[in-house]
Amino acid sequence: MTTSRTIAITGANSGIGLRATAQLAAAGHTVLALCRDQERSSAAISAATDNATNVRVIQTDLSSPASIRSAVAEVKAHGTLDSLINNAAIFDLSQKTAAFTAEGNELFWATNHLGPFELTARLSSLLAAAAQPRIVFIASKGLITMPWLQIRCDQPNSATGYSPTKAYYHSKLAQVMTAVSLAERVPSNVGVSCIRVPAVKLDSARLAAQPALMRALYAPKNAAAATPESLAATYVRAATSAEARDAVYIDENDRAVAAPRTARDSAARDRLWALSEHATGDVEWAW
Ligand SMILES: NC(=O)c1ccc[n+]([C@@H]2O[C@H](COP(=O)([O-])OP(=O)(O)OC[C@H]3O[C@@H](n4cnc5c(N)ncnc54)[C@H](OP(=O)(O)O)[C@@H]3O)[C@@H](O)[C@H]2O)c1
Repeated sequence: MTTSRTIAITGANSGIGLRATAQLAAAGHTVLALCRDQERSSAAISAATDNATNVRVIQTDLSSPASIRSAVAEVKAHGTLDSLINNAAIFDLSQKTAAFTAEGNELFWATNHLGPFELTARLSSLLAAAAQPRIVFIASKGLITMPWLQIRCDQPNSATGYSPTKAYYHSKLAQVMTAVSLAERVPSNVGVSCIRVPAVKLDSARLAAQPALMRALYAPKNAAAATPESLAATYVRAATSAEARDAVYIDENDRAVAAPRTARDSAARDRLWALSEHATGDVEWAW
């Protein structure tokens, strides 16, 4: 697809999202950069992007429904939207006790799952008006290590037995499940994908902000990890591909990969969808 598209991407100020923003802007696309800190994000994007005039930063905190609603109003005021990349996530595994949002949702669940779910629902009518909409979710290759993981729909916000690793992978499993469910709901011109991201080098500022133990744990992983630029290129292909692909869950090379067991269980996906709809105020979807 060579025509210029309008593409919204969350977490556009750092890591893979920042590189995807730079690549999209350089290719002539208009990027709506949905970031939680407007000033810090504008500075990061200007420094990393040759064609920063193609980028508009919109303040968006995915853990806050009010912030999502106000960001959606700004995106709607822009008028068109061809693609949405749900990239942002928190994964600070040093957070040993559960934190909660003002709405009472556990922070990883709110930021990494409920936020993207509500954002996508609220933008779905604008996306549905585009000729070839593309919606991209982001999961983690680490899910391979927990094939039996299930979403505890009865207690997504429980602090009992909390571990940040579990909270993170629940939220990432929910990305695969949401993508598979959404792909079944949309018409054939709408492309829905979920990228299985392998270990990717973290930005030095992000790494430096980690506690010493986390820095030590990350060091060998970071040295062997893929570059954020290479994953950004995968994002760009998913958000701009001319054909809506059949495969929903793909790796960094666009190859179809097996979705986790729970994501293949339609009853489990229906339970997650209903729970997510309820938790985000039953926003109406276009599909
Ligand atoms: N790096 C890896 O090894 C790896 C592996 C598997 C999957 N992934 C996935 O890849 C994606 C990108 O990760 P990355 O490596 O590029 O990490 P990153 O550099 O830490 O970027 C994460 C982005 O998410 C944003 N974010 C966090 N909380 C937010 C909130 N409440 N509202 C809005 N934005 C928020 C951050 O903004 P702030 O700057 O404001 O915090 C940042 O822009 C994530 O979905 C991650 O789960 C990464």
